[in-house]
Amino acid sequence: MSPSLAAVVLCAGKGTRMKSEKAKVLHPILGRPLCAYPLKRALELGASPLVPVVGHQAAEVEKAIRAQFPSASLRFALQKEQRGTADAVRSAEGELKDFSGRVLILYGDVPLLRRETLEALVAAHESGKATLSMVSTTLDDPTGYGRVIREGGKVTRIVEHKDCTPEQRAVRECNAGIYLVESSFLWRALAEIRPQNAQGEFYLTDLVEMAARLGPVATVEADATDTAGVNDRVEMAARARVMQQRINEGHMRAGVTLLDPASAFIEDDVSIGADTEIGPQVSLAAGTVVGRNVTIGQGSVLTASTVADGTTIKPYSVFEEAKVGERCIIGPFARLRPGTELAEEVHLGNFVETKKARIGKGSKANHLAYLGDAKIGSGVNVGAGTITCNYDGVNKHVTELGDGVFIGSDTQLVAPVSVGDGAYVGAGTTVTKNVPPGSLAVSRVPQVNKEGWVARKKAQRG
Ligand code: UD1
Ligand code: MG
Repeated sequence: MSPSLAAVVLCAGKGTRMKSEKAKVLHPILGRPLCAYPLKRALELGASPLVPVVGHQAAEVEKAIRAQFPSASLRFALQKEQRGTADAVRSAEGELKDFSGRVLILYGDVPLLRRETLEALVAAHESGKATLSMVSTTLDDPTGYGRVIREGGKVTRIVEHKDCTPEQRAVRECNAGIYLVESSFLWRALAEIRPQNAQGEFYLTDLVEMAARLGPVATVEADATDTAGVNDRVEMAARARVMQQRINEGHMRAGVTLLDPASAFIEDDVSIGADTEIGPQVSLAAGTVVGRNVTIGQGSVLTASTVADGTTIKPYSVFEEAKVGERCIIGPFARLRPGTELAEEVHLGNFVETKKARIGKGSKANHLAYLGDAKIGSGVNVGAGTITCNYDGVNKHVTELGDGVFIGSDTQLVAPVSVGDGAYVGAGTTVTKNVPPGSLAVSRVPQVNKEGWVARKKAQRG
């Protein structure tokens, strides 16, 4: 059995360069807060316990992390004052008192980290029988990073950019900030670190020199893209672009057609079935599940919605927490709001808005309608311009339409009201009373034709 693994993820910093009221690690990237990505990697590796170190906006950061990983075993540590990365890890000691094994240390602002890199780190640690192992990256412009200093090929220490001599500044191998450390060494060594450096901070990187004195430090070289952090919004956008490309490529390799992969914006937690076709500028937000053989037209935006197999969504439709059955045809320009549940083969056309509406098999509302707080049976035809008047100024009320109902154009259904199975409502009717099954309801004033009226009127005016 391999030794136990715990993880500490540093999420306590403010992120000054974001110029934001909100802590940096809470800023979203492809539908999740920034810090969720390294945390997810630690979980994938089987790390338990997992200790996020929080500090700046601690309560908000903790809440966001718990919401992302509701079933994970998380132990939060508080770093009261941000006195450096070593101090941050040290604040996790109390949460890991009963733990003995290896501690994976990650920074909370590195979203593109790959699982393979961490697996390679574990392998290098084991084969090198190391006390401490780390990930390094070679950069064309290493400004700002800690430099990996080697003697005779062996790592001896890390020197932070601000503390470098001119020769050390020329080193391009940099510290990626990802470490695997034996717990027996970690807490003892952390206690010895002093803030004797250009920034007056407790540097976690001092651990490397201490470990190198005990034996070889194992290193794994990772691609600069994978280990790049986020310090400001320009970097955030650059990382998001790479992440978007990775997500889109993953879907394409799994059998999804993206007509314009550069503009399809698909968040991290979205599932899409094979042979589905996604048009340009489509946005699929976290929690959305799309079946097989679905077509999603240009500019459509789906959030936390489910779309079953064979459905066609025409351009510029917007879904929010909607459930759509098989072989439906929706849009263009349809708006499905929370609580919309469509059975199979429902057709909703342009400028149709639904909210808390359950609509049965094969029913249609093809033009200009508002269907809110509605229970609609199967085989119903809702004419153009139909509105459920669900709000009386104080409360919301339900409209029920039975199976096979026909609603003529420009009908208002003043809820609470119901129309029984098979009933017809004439165009232009304001339905205020329940309509019995099989009957016709008409409320408009009977039409009168006054022949020759126009000519007479014009003659009067002279
Ligand atoms: C750190 C490394 C540097 C490495 C670089 C890689 C140190 C001393 N230096 O520098 O060698 O090349 O990362 O990106 O570690 N944090 C806390 N509490 C603190 C300070 C920081 O939780 O008191 C968190 C931050 O929120 C952030 C992470 O630690 O997620 C890294 O801190 P940061 O200040 O960005 O370190 P760098 O200067 O980038
Ligand atoms: Mg940094």
